[in-house]
Amino acid sequence: MEISSSLLSWFNLEKRDLPFRKNRNPYRIWVSEIMLQQTKVETVIPYYHKWIRTYPDILSVYNSNESSLLKSWEGLGYYSRCRNFHKAAKIVCEKYNAKIPDSWEIFRSLPGVGDYTAGAVLSIAFKKPFIALDGNVKRVMARILGRKNLSKYNIQRFKLTLKKWLDHNRPGDFNEAMMELGACICIPRSPKCHKCPISNFCAAYKSGNPMSYPQKNKKKKIPNHIFVASLIKEKNKILIQRRQSNMLNGLWEIPNKHVNNIKYINDELKKYIYEQYGFEIKVINKVGTISHSYSHFNMKLILLECKKIGRIKNYNQTYDWIKKSEVINYAFHKVNHKIFKLLDNYF
Ligand code: ADE
Repeated sequence: MEISSSLLSWFNLEKRDLPFRKNRNPYRIWVSEIMLQQTKVETVIPYYHKWIRTYPDILSVYNSNESSLLKSWEGLGYYSRCRNFHKAAKIVCEKYNAKIPDSWEIFRSLPGVGDYTAGAVLSIAFKKPFIALDGNVKRVMARILGRKNLSKYNIQRFKLTLKKWLDHNRPGDFNEAMMELGACICIPRSPKCHKCPISNFCAAYKSGNPMSYPQKNKKKKIPNHIFVASLIKEKNKILIQRRQSNMLNGLWEIPNKHVNNIKYINDELKKYIYEQYGFEIKVINKVGTISHSYSHFNMKLILLECKKIGRIKNYNQTYDWIKKSEVINYAFHKVNHKIFKLLDNYF
């Protein structure tokens, strides 16, 4: 296929020198493909190096515990990727003798492995003829085929077309080349069509306005939520707890809650602490406010310094008391790192 050979010739010459392209072992490819989901290459690289140093193979992931893995993932976001990888490593080690499966059905059935990850890992690591359609490749395909929207119907067309174009001798390179084109040349704004090896196959290029493919969705408005957090200090230690929730499960934070009515933040916080820990608090002072955006809501968090009255009686939380020097031993999510910054000289 002419388009694949033009693409692959370009990839041979121009591909970036990335750490996960140096060693094609299936475990490393899998780690990199998980890290690269929703995350930029530059962000991933230091995490990838550190991860491979700490966990050189699937057995080392299997033999580790979730807390240590989350600590290594701290700051990379989308932590379910890490928890799912741990679950998948357990299955691979216990059921498949620590050999990463090269069959679509088996690999695709592992926790955290969707069509994209299965296609990417099986094609890159095992040269299996599967396509890998990520967000970048969707944009490239929308432009080549001149499709303005990413409807289910069009996505199906992209898949069928990619299957036709896939080079069966180099399926992994073909997939990586498509991703590379999307990341480096066929970028969302100001695509570098003059450098594109396949512009003569591209409907969007011919149209003279490649940027208008695919059309941008209007950004969905996301809600604003207010949270209140409680800084409770005893001697030189503060109280932290481990989340048990669908979101950021297993990560640590200082006690906090969503507030329904900003007028009653003190009361809501007191009630929450009493329910979770069985002690009263007295609000001493407002330390500051933190803003953070998640994909589905904006958070404004008000941090209140509180005095603990009485002893912990309830055990609804997994909690700990830590000194500043012990922060490094726990995996905290981003908002808490913002809190620690605010508390620089505090504890
Ligand atoms: N994004 C996700 N996987 C990638 C890969 N293997 N090469 C380039 N970009 C990617």
